[in-house]
Amino acid sequence: MRILSGIQPSGRLHIGNYFGAIRQYLKFQAEGHDCFYFIANYHALTSLKDADALRESTMHLAAGYLALGIDPGRSVFFVQSDVPQVTELCWFLNTVCPVGLMERATSFKDKVARGIAPNMGLFDYPVLQAADISIYDANMVPVGADQKQHIEITRDLVAKFNQAFGVEVLVSPEPYIVQSVAVVPGIDGQKMSKSYDNVIQIFDTPKATAKTCGRIVTDSTPLEDPKDPDKCNVFALLKLFAEPAELQVIADSYRAGGYGYGHAKKRLAELINDHFGDARVRYDELISRPDYLRDILAEGGRKARAAAERTMERVRAASGIMRTH
Ligand code: ADP
Ligand code: TRP
Repeated sequence: MRILSGIQPSGRLHIGNYFGAIRQYLKFQAEGHDCFYFIANYHALTSLKDADALRESTMHLAAGYLALGIDPGRSVFFVQSDVPQVTELCWFLNTVCPVGLMERATSFKDKVARGIAPNMGLFDYPVLQAADISIYDANMVPVGADQKQHIEITRDLVAKFNQAFGVEVLVSPEPYIVQSVAVVPGIDGQKMSKSYDNVIQIFDTPKATAKTCGRIVTDSTPLEDPKDPDKCNVFALLKLFAEPAELQVIADSYRAGGYGYGHAKKRLAELINDHFGDARVRYDELISRPDYLRDILAEGGRKARAAAERTMERVRAASGIMRTH
């Protein structure tokens, strides 16, 4: 099975990215599937107009993926812009994409509502994503729930392209969404997202993690009173990190009273710091070796370009687009 997924370098990795997406990337990699994982920097350009920040986020995301366990010996690991063919495929897909389909895309509406300039790149974002997926003949795309519509759009565009050109040129992908972590809550209880300023970063100092956990929004039930764990943002996050036995003890303590949100926040920070301790050490080391990171990306880019070019030859031939070289 060909697996593919990407993340935009538009901020630092957070635990929503980890549980919603990266953990599934690692599972597929461990199972020995043919995995392609990339840094979606063309996509980031739709909302980020700061060259230094984009370069920096790209390197941080590269270090983050590797520190968490993406193995360039087993997965093709690359940066989107090393495969410019993807923007070419985006053009072909644009020509079969109904405007109405883009007008119904919720992420465009959400981003514009949050104040991002409604440029054509932002409008066309799902079509570029469809190109990312179909240029590598991906069968399965591990993502969080917020990306479900984008995979559906991809399936639509693949069907329309194949219908227009009368042949099975492009492969239709399936989303892979793990329901229990499809939407990881942020410290304010909304979906955790870079754009809501409610994230718990993966690669932070233990002190900064403790401080962020301290800011998780809770109600004002006094310490001695019983509390409902199922209505608490801290508990929702503890579920991701605590072993079932400990989680049961904490849930009982909530219900019994005398256990404060402060206790739960402190334990959560400890668990997060433990969970990512080793990865943080690797991350610090990797981020201090930019040339090494670039070499790894360059090697992945070569493999990805070869796969992309094979698809583009089919696409050009099927659609009558001529190349004289
Ligand atoms: P953000 O919303 O912070 O900008 P991205 O859009 O870069 O995150 O997401 C990268 C990947 O992580 C996607 O597959 C996305 O679905 C997943 N993801 C992001 N936030 C969450 C979350 N809160 N819960 C589950 N998955 C998430
Ligand atoms: N839109 C995705 C996000 O915001 C990032 C992305 C770009 C992606 N291209 C992709 C995800 C292809 C999966 C497959 O998270």
